[in-house]
Order: sequence, then structure tokens, then C-alpha cells
Amino acid sequence: MSGGHRCKASGMTHVEWPAIKQRPCAPATPPVGREEPELGHTHTRAQSGRQAAMALLSCPRRHPSISHLIFFSVYLLFATILPILDGLALGGDGLYREILRDETVLRLKELGKISDGEGYLERTFLSPASIRATDVIISWMKDAGLTTWVDQMGNIHGRFESANSTKDALLIGSHMDTVIDAGMYDGSLGIICAISALKVLKVTGKLQRLTRPVEVIAFSDEEGVRFQTTFLGSAAVAGTLPESILQVSDKSGTTVQDVLKLNSFEATSASLGQVKYSPESVGSYVEVHIEQGPVLEALHYPLGVVKGIAGQTRLKVIVDGSQGHAGTVPMKLRRDPMVAAAELVLTLERLCKEPNKFLTYDEECGCFTEESLAGLVCTVGELLTWPSASNVIPGQVNFTVDIRAMDDKVRETIVTSFSRLVLQKCDDRLVDCAVEHKHAAAATPCDAELTAKLERATRSTLSMMTAAAPGGMPVPVLMSGAGHDAMAMARLTKVGMLFVRCRGGVSHSPEESVIDDDVWAAGLALLNFVDHNAVAES
Ligand code: GLV
Ligand code: MN
Ligand code: MN
Repeated sequence: MSGGHRCKASGMTHVEWPAIKQRPCAPATPPVGREEPELGHTHTRAQSGRQAAMALLSCPRRHPSISHLIFFSVYLLFATILPILDGLALGGDGLYREILRDETVLRLKELGKISDGEGYLERTFLSPASIRATDVIISWMKDAGLTTWVDQMGNIHGRFESANSTKDALLIGSHMDTVIDAGMYDGSLGIICAISALKVLKVTGKLQRLTRPVEVIAFSDEEGVRFQTTFLGSAAVAGTLPESILQVSDKSGTTVQDVLKLNSFEATSASLGQVKYSPESVGSYVEVHIEQGPVLEALHYPLGVVKGIAGQTRLKVIVDGSQGHAGTVPMKLRRDPMVAAAELVLTLERLCKEPNKFLTYDEECGCFTEESLAGLVCTVGELLTWPSASNVIPGQVNFTVDIRAMDDKVRETIVTSFSRLVLQKCDDRLVDCAVEHKHAAAATPCDAELTAKLERATRSTLSMMTAAAPGGMPVPVLMSGAGHDAMAMARLTKVGMLFVRCRGGVSHSPEESVIDDDVWAAGLALLNFVDHNAVAES
């Protein structure tokens, strides 16, 4: 292991994964045309020569024989004449560091600066910053050799279709919107890694050999920050976005339709319909994303595959009381929505912290099983008061509720129980309450076959990049508590996800951080995956 460095967010020591592999120091004359389980299907003479050359260079005490020197000279000659074809200009060893790490990281930083906020990152659905980001992402897609367009929901598409490809496309994507005061990796990492992987295919001449169309999509909305309804972009592509979405409004009363029209989209049910892909036109969807949790870091492992994504429900609770003077209304006569809301927030916490005390479900044990409760989490992330002044008893308090669980039955039971308790407690406090259902998504399993392919691509990538697969352990398989566009896309096609370790497990925060070599590993694993599943052998 190389030296650790301090974790800014939590003060924990973060240990980096083993350094880039030193090639073995005793190469025999390299075999020609040997099968290699890694990037590219066949080991060419040039590639083998490169390995031999690298092995020689990395073992200075070994005395090369004449035949080695001749071979080395011929190799150097070819390597100088044909640097692009051989990929040498990109890192020289098939690891394409300059694109998959250096350029990707630069672009992440560039995109991370495109913000609606001063001094913090915020890019919500079709905001001015999102429109600026769209231009930048399109230019990167073009640079990767892709044909680009923006659909009627503001999603950006970059596609390559080779002459002999089948109809069912491999879609790779993630979201370009962010939360408020966001980190620069959530969503953006998946988009830029995909563009970089395709750029490598372009410069190595492999785009022309695609066996299926490959398309990168930067989805316009996954976080749901502005309209409290997530997946506006990916649900439209999957064809599950209801027409009623156009009338949903943000805090200022602006509707989705208004925002679309303001940006010159048609914003009709017909234009929404145009965004939808037919299931026959899509083979699968793959997404690279930061883990947003601490598991990979604890395992000292840079990448993991995802087994499934937790289901989620978003509610808005509205508590109406009597607005009044803070100095004159006696405590006993108040109908204060703030204290009622405070009680409801604590009620939610208790429900989700100790669900067994409140709920019964499993007939046999008279409780939820531990397994079904795994991953149950509930959050109140936003609370608004009206009129919000220190000398006024509020007239109304609204707050959001976010409930997630791996088991849909658990989540639904929590939603029902909480809604019942809201009405009960509001009655007790003589305030009027309403619970609005804003969003619900069922737990989503990832496709087992796709996950196995991603796992193989990850394993071969890490053995290319490291002296040993970290700890010799298998690629971690994780459940995702965070929502992803893959959830919406699962309504259209089979989905698979690759997670990337992040420092301290921190996300939805400017402290979000991924080490550059992990960005590289993610890009290379995705490249390996595409190369093995969508590129014809030469
Ligand atoms: C998206 O990041 C979510 O899980 O809310
Ligand atoms: Mn997010
Ligand atoms: Mn995300």
C-alpha cells in the first residue's frame, strides 16, 4: 500500500489502493497473438512488444540479450511511427491514463465549476448553469466522435452507430443535475467516464467496430431538487413520466411546463412522448456512480458492483396552525404548527430507528425480519415556515420526508404508519395536516448477467492496474441506498451499475472526493466492459 492521507471530512485515514502494477521482471520473448483476458481480445505483436519493452525498462539490473535489444529497437521504431494506432499517445500501456484519468479529472473539475450558486455547486433542472453545462458536455461528446442531440426533456445524448451494428443499443449514463451545495462527482463522474471510455475507442479505431450502437446520456434531472419528483430525465427516456408532470410546480409556482417552454422546448404530451425509447431499441443500461457510502473505502477497494437499489418514497407534510403574535398569545391557546412539525419529525425518526417497536409484518415472528429492515432510512431534509419571523407564531410549516428501504413492503408500511401518526398527532395538537405523496420508486434489482460482466471487467481492470487485486478479495457487491437513473431505466431495459469509492463515504456535500486513480480505474473498467460486450474482434 502507498502512504495514506488524511480524510478531510471525517479525520479518518484514507488508505489508497496498491500502486500501478510494475510489470513482471522476467519476460520470456513475448508470445504472438496470445489471448488476453483484458482490454482488447487478442494480444498483438505490438502489444506484447510493448510489455517486453516495459518489463526491460522497469528492470534496470537485468542485462538484455542481443535478440531482446533488436526486438526492443524494432518495437520502438513501430511505436514511434504508429503511436495513435497503438494507443501509445494515450498512456502507452493500454491503460489510457491521459484520457481516462487526467482528462476525466480535468473535466470533472470544469463541470464542477458550472453552477447557479456563488461559491458552491448547484445545478438544478434546466437552470441557467444546466444550460451552460449542456454546451460543454456536447462539446466533449463530439470530441469523442459521437453524434449529439438534446431531447425534449433536456437530456443530452451522444451516440455512435457503426455500419454493422445491431439495433439494440448499449446506453451508458448518469445525471448532470446536482443537489444544492453539491460535490462534483455525483452524476458527473458517470457521464464523463462514459465519454472518456468512448473517446479511447475512437482514438484506437474501435468505434468503427461496434457491434451495437453505444450511447451516452447525460440526464437532465435525477436529484429532484427543484420539483421534488426525481428522474424527470431518465423516466422520460424510459417512457414512464406521466403527462401530469408538466403541471407540477416548484416553490415559486413555476411549473415543469413553464421551465421547458422558457428553454424553447415544446412541453406538450406529444413532445414528452418523443423522448421515450422503445424497449426493442435498447439492449441494456449501465451507470458508473460514486458509492456515496463508506463500504468500499472500508474494504480498501476502489470499485464495486451493485446488486440492487433501495426503493424510495418522498412525501410533503403540510401543517396548518394559527398565525399569531409571539408575545401575546398564551401557550395554552396556541395552534402552533412548528411544534407539531417538530413532534412529527421525531415520530418519523423513532419509527425508522426502531421499526420493530411500532410495526408488525412477518406472521411467524410477529415482526419485520432483520433482513427486510436492512437499509431502512428516513430523513427530513427541508423544512419551511411561513411567515418565518422570530416574533411570529408560524401560520404554516411544510417539510419533506424521504423514506428508503431495500424491502418495498417495509417502506410502504412505514409510509402508511407515518401518515396515520401524522393525522393522530395533528388532531392532538389541534392543527390541520395533509400528507402529499410526491414520488415513489420500487426497489430495483440490477440484472445478474450484466452485473457479472461488470464484475469481470472490474477484476481484469484491477489486475491490469495493480500489483495484485487488492487483498486478493472478490469485487465487492453492494446495495445502493441512494437513488440512481438506473432505477428509472430499469422500467425500460436491464440495468447494471459500477460504484466508485469516495473519501469518507461522503456525498451530497462539497467534501465529496474521489482519488484520481479511482477515476481512472472506473473509466478503464467501463472501457473494458464496452470493449468486451460491444466491440467486434479484429
Ligand atoms: C439521489 O442522489 C438520491 O438518492 O436522492
Ligand atoms: Mn445525488
Ligand atoms: Mn447521483
